[in-house]
Amino acid sequence: MNWYSKLKQADFPLPSFDYKDPNDEDRLRGGFHSVDSDMTEEDAKKQEQKHPKLTYEGSGSYGVAFVNEGNMVIKYTTHYSEFASANHILILQEQLGGRIPGFVKVIDTEKLKNDVFAIVMEKLEPLNNKEQCFVKAVRTGAYSEFENDPFFLEVSTKYEKMLFDIDRSGGDPWDAHRYNIGKLPNGQYVMFDLGGLFE
Ligand SMILES: Nc1ncnc2c1ncn2[C@@H]1O[C@H](COP(=O)(O)OP(=O)(O)O)[C@@H](O)[C@H]1O
Ligand SMILES: [Mg+2]
Repeated sequence: MNWYSKLKQADFPLPSFDYKDPNDEDRLRGGFHSVDSDMTEEDAKKQEQKHPKLTYEGSGSYGVAFVNEGNMVIKYTTHYSEFASANHILILQEQLGGRIPGFVKVIDTEKLKNDVFAIVMEKLEPLNNKEQCFVKAVRTGAYSEFENDPFFLEVSTKYEKMLFDIDRSGGDPWDAHRYNIGKLPNGQYVMFDLGGLFE
C-alpha cells in the first residue's frame, strides 16, 4: 500500500507536491517516501484518531510535517536521531523549567512501529526570502556584497546567536541551513529540524 492510499484510508489531508515550492521537488519528495514505506496502516489510523484535523505544512529529506488545530506541528520522521534529540530537549526543558535557547519547543514524542517517530512541537514562522538568502550567505561565506546592509547584520547576528546557544547546550548545529530554521514571535531564530543535534 502506498502513502496516498494509506493516508486516504486514515482520512489524512493529502498534500500536493507543489504546495510550497514547485521548483524543489526533491526536497519535498524524500520525507514522503521514507514515511510512506515505513508507517503501518494501523499507526496511520491511530495517528488520525489522535490528531483528527491536520493540514500539510512541509517536508524534507526524512520527514513530513503537519499542523494541528492547536497550531502545533506534528512531524513524522524515519530519522531516529531526531527522536533522540527531541527527547533530549524534553529533558532539558524539564530540568531548566522552560524553553531551551536555540531550539524549537518540544511538546511530545512518540515511537511508532517500524522506526517511524512522531514529534509534536510548537509551530514557527519560516524565514522570509531575504532572511533565507542571508543565512545561506553566512553559511557559505559569500556575503561580501551584503556586508554593509543593516538587515544582513541583523540576520547574521541572530543566526550566530542561535548557533552559539545550540553549542552551549551541547548540540551540534551542522544542519542549521535556511530550511531547518524558524522564527519565534520575538524574532529570534531557532532550529526545528533536530536530526543529528545530539549524537
Ligand atoms: N516547527 C515547525 N514550524 C513550522 N514549520 C515546520 C516545523 N517543523 C517542520 N516544518 C516544515 O516542514 C518542513 C520539513 O521539516 P523538517 O524538519 O526540515 O524535515 P526533514 O527532516 O525531512 O528535513 C520544513 O521545511 C518546514 O516547512
Ligand atoms: Mg529539514
